[in-house]
Amino acid sequence: MTPTPVWPVDASRPDPTVIEAAAACLRNGGLVAFPTETVYGLGVDALNVEAVRRLFVAKGRPATDPLIVHVPGVAQLESVAHSVSVLAWQLAEAFWPGPLTLVLPRRPIVPLEVTAGKETVAVRAPSHPVAQALLAVARTPIAAPSANRFSRPSPTTAQHVLDDLNGLIDGVLDAGPTNIGLESTIVDVTRTPPHVLRPGGLKLETLRRFVPNLVVSERFLEESIAADAPGMFLKHYAPCAELRLYEGPREAVLAAMRLAAGALAQAGRRVGVLALAGEAVHFAGLPVEWADLGPESEPEEIGRRLFAALRDLDARGVEVIFARLPAPEGLGWAVRDRLRRAAAGHIIKVE
Ligand code: TXA
Ligand code: MG
Repeated sequence: MTPTPVWPVDASRPDPTVIEAAAACLRNGGLVAFPTETVYGLGVDALNVEAVRRLFVAKGRPATDPLIVHVPGVAQLESVAHSVSVLAWQLAEAFWPGPLTLVLPRRPIVPLEVTAGKETVAVRAPSHPVAQALLAVARTPIAAPSANRFSRPSPTTAQHVLDDLNGLIDGVLDAGPTNIGLESTIVDVTRTPPHVLRPGGLKLETLRRFVPNLVVSERFLEESIAADAPGMFLKHYAPCAELRLYEGPREAVLAAMRLAAGALAQAGRRVGVLALAGEAVHFAGLPVEWADLGPESEPEEIGRRLFAALRDLDARGVEVIFARLPAPEGLGWAVRDRLRRAAAGHIIKVE
């Protein structure tokens, strides 16, 4: 195996020679991981069918799962999509570059390999200066899923990318940890009213200011959680360890978690806890591994740390991870979604 080269770049002022080398690699059909403000993406020239096929193989991703096409900004939207509604333009103008992906009718120039055979294409303009520089120099739309092996937590550092894909891709632009840490919010604007397909780095409350009748799928709604059958979720964003997810009043949940974690540890299992600041005392005296998500009052920090924390507990050899679901508000929507998928939809309800 040839190790994948890592190209360090300054996050705010990337060196043009490094960006040119990465862009040249992309133009030649290479697979280049790069930072966005959400997570690291694994980029290929979106118009190069061979490169797109190699990307699916490297990720171990089923060909039925379409890719997001990245463009520099609103000016390039119609190069890959058409029939852009007034509302879709407004959203792109308001939130690009940034963590919003719009699903729109596909222009034929976008290969069906990218869209998994769909007549729609997901488009986003990332705001990270390195992603912007790469797009500007590459002069082609860049198809980029998150740069993890299929079903693993998304990478928020270049090291996470290497942990999953070293030797399988042609380079990684390393600009340090990403700022948001959760993937973009995806909105299908081909439907009226628009539908949220994935809650993410752009808060639903912020979107609703522009789209008051925004439809948020049943499965993201609080009331539907109890009715969700385990297994209806694709296991995704998952650590290797089993994730046990709790929901209910804080004190009762922490007590239930302590009891269950203690019993498992007693039985010789390696237990980890995804904990918020101040929760450690609830597990005092138990042999558990910690990953600190930060204070409950700082959801941005929790979002930034979530995927790294899951990977970190895995690296420490934990077999079972305990976590508490955050409230469904702000970034909590995205964190809940990622945790629920990582637990394959299974939630332990505590009264
Ligand atoms: O923040 C992000 O969105 C990151 C960075 C790298 O931009 N990308 C990312 O890509 O999360 P990925 O491939 O991990 O997730 C893209 C999601 C997939 O779940 C896919 O099903 C959905 O977007 N998607 C892509 N094209 C679609 C389409 N035409 N219609 C519906 N969903 C689509
Ligand atoms: Mg992904």
